[in-house]
Amino acid sequence: MIIITGGAGYIGSHTVVELINNGFEILIVDNFSNSDIFMIGQIEKITNRKIQYENIDLCDSKKVFDLFDKYEIDSVIHFAAFKAVGESVDNPLKYYHNNLLSLINLLFAIEKNPKIGLIFSSSCTVYGQPDILPVKEENLIKMAESPYGNTKQICEEIIQDVVRVKNIKAISLRYFNPIGAHESALIGELPIGTPLNLVPLLTQTAYGLRTLNVYGNDYDTPDGTAIRDYINVNDLASAHVCALKRLDEITPSFEVFNVGTGKGTSVMELIKTFERVNDIKIQYKIVDRRQGDIEKVWADTSLANKELKWKAKISLEETLISAWNWEKYIRNVL
Ligand code: NAD
Ligand code: WQD
Repeated sequence: MIIITGGAGYIGSHTVVELINNGFEILIVDNFSNSDIFMIGQIEKITNRKIQYENIDLCDSKKVFDLFDKYEIDSVIHFAAFKAVGESVDNPLKYYHNNLLSLINLLFAIEKNPKIGLIFSSSCTVYGQPDILPVKEENLIKMAESPYGNTKQICEEIIQDVVRVKNIKAISLRYFNPIGAHESALIGELPIGTPLNLVPLLTQTAYGLRTLNVYGNDYDTPDGTAIRDYINVNDLASAHVCALKRLDEITPSFEVFNVGTGKGTSVMELIKTFERVNDIKIQYKIVDRRQGDIEKVWADTSLANKELKWKAKISLEETLISAWNWEKYIRNVL
């Protein structure tokens, strides 16, 4: 059985669908602190399966140990974490507590049974503004720009230190910017409160709920707006299937992979593509740069292509259609 912590969340829910489609038996572990139990039913609709889940706070070490006693676990995919960069600046302890303790509790349980593999959700945020693009895994990790980013750096270091002394197999996947939704439009990103990321803000603008602020058009990029590597969430989900297969092939070790498309897209390119493929006009205005934003980043994905035998396949066009379909669907449900 594969444990999916945070499996009711945005990336976790898409990964659960992908794993079930690939024949894996899964258990979602989530405390629904940033997701809704409604998502479990949505996954059931897509997969036509009953989904097993446990409502557990991973910061509770006793509950984590009991979980590992109760189930026969092959691997853990650890998505559960808090992820709001701005909130982590205002409330760093909330982030250090949740993101570090949940991992530490899992590692205590895993070191008792080192046959259990671990896949960890890391982020391109660990790179900050890289000096060389596309960014490679071995690129210098700079000081984190936020407590959230720091939790990802520290979690990777914790895993590395534990793997050095225990016979554990662990893989860290550094996601670039996940966007889009499942093609069924039954699951997608469900931000609680005002979204912080570009695409949910874009789809809410398309729905007429707001005007989109474009943060800065004076960057050193072809159109002056910032560049990111936007990866379809279903492509990202499939990287986890490849990583699980890799855990079966490797000896105890800690490996790190970039998971992106390898292509940079500017904010204005993204808005224009969204308008074109969905035939809808976006109300936007250019405002000052957002504090803490980097200018440009995109991934060198050659390591994941070679070792994980994984590649992003879904186009930006298709991804932005799926994002808009999800927004229209969820507005009717809410
Ligand atoms: P999400 O908030 O949608 O999902 C996280 C899930 O974890 C939620 O369902 C939440 O309820 C659960 N959770 C949080 N703390 C928990 C705890 N202590 N115990 C049990 N459950 C808990 O986030 P997401 O976008 O799906 O991100 C998943 C992972 O990927 C996170 O680790 C995040 O840091 C990382 N990541 C996300 C992005 C992104 O842009 N979405 C980019 C890079 C990395
Ligand atoms: C993308 C681009 C903004 C909103 C964040 C986290 C990072 C990772 C992914 C978890 C930027 C611009 C945005 C808006 C805009 N998450 N933008 N108007 O900042 O690249 O990364 O999510 O690990 O850690 O920091 O993503 O979607 O917020 O922004 O112009 O209203 O869109 O300036 O260039 P970001 P994002």
